[in-house]
Amino acid sequence: MSESKWPNVVIISHPVVQERLTVLRDKDTDVEGFRRLVGQVARLMAFEITRDYPTRTRTINTPMETHEGVALARAITLVPILRAGLGMAEGVHQLLPSARMGHIGIFRNEDTLEPTVYFRKLPADIADSDVILIDPMLATAGSLITAIDSLKEAGVDKLKVLCLVAAPEGIEKLNAVHPNTLVFTAAVDRCLNESGFILPGLGDAGDRIFGTG
Ligand code: PRP
Repeated sequence: MSESKWPNVVIISHPVVQERLTVLRDKDTDVEGFRRLVGQVARLMAFEITRDYPTRTRTINTPMETHEGVALARAITLVPILRAGLGMAEGVHQLLPSARMGHIGIFRNEDTLEPTVYFRKLPADIADSDVILIDPMLATAGSLITAIDSLKEAGVDKLKVLCLVAAPEGIEKLNAVHPNTLVFTAAVDRCLNESGFILPGLGDAGDRIFGTG
């Protein structure tokens, strides 16, 4: 892991994550490869971002004797932003199979870039859990800000954001609205273009995961 110029933004610089991210960026990576790699990278990143999660003692019996082991102390809720977040969430779920999953559906108007919420289903007791909000792209940050508004309204205060690529402009905007939100990303890219796409980026993650491009 390495720090960025923003204290709340951590870049997961693990070489395996960076190698896979490069393949994801490659326009010649097909839908099947893209979807598989998105899940893999997300799983690797989730391993890093959960390293400070609290544990409690769990006593079990090995075939030999009693042993004081550990269990995760709190429930975990994964919240992918539909659609693109789903591809990452599946990978994270493999690492954290007991995690619950909430969903927030948001799409960005292609002209105004304004986010619209079209679906929201969260576990009733989400406020008691560690929440990982998942979206591959942090571009203008409109989608993430809207999702975080929604999570805070539901009482969430233990929140980490997991994304693949983030734009500096979006990080600044996110920090202005929700200061100190912890963001874990595989890369902070150069900038946004005039259409709100991240450069160099990886294209439209949702379209590349689901083959709708
Ligand atoms: C994309 C992406 C993020 C959002 C990022 O979703 O998956 O959710 O845009 O942009 P922002 O930071 O400027 O809000 P999109 O609206 O294309 O929907 P999709 O995931 O269904 O493809």
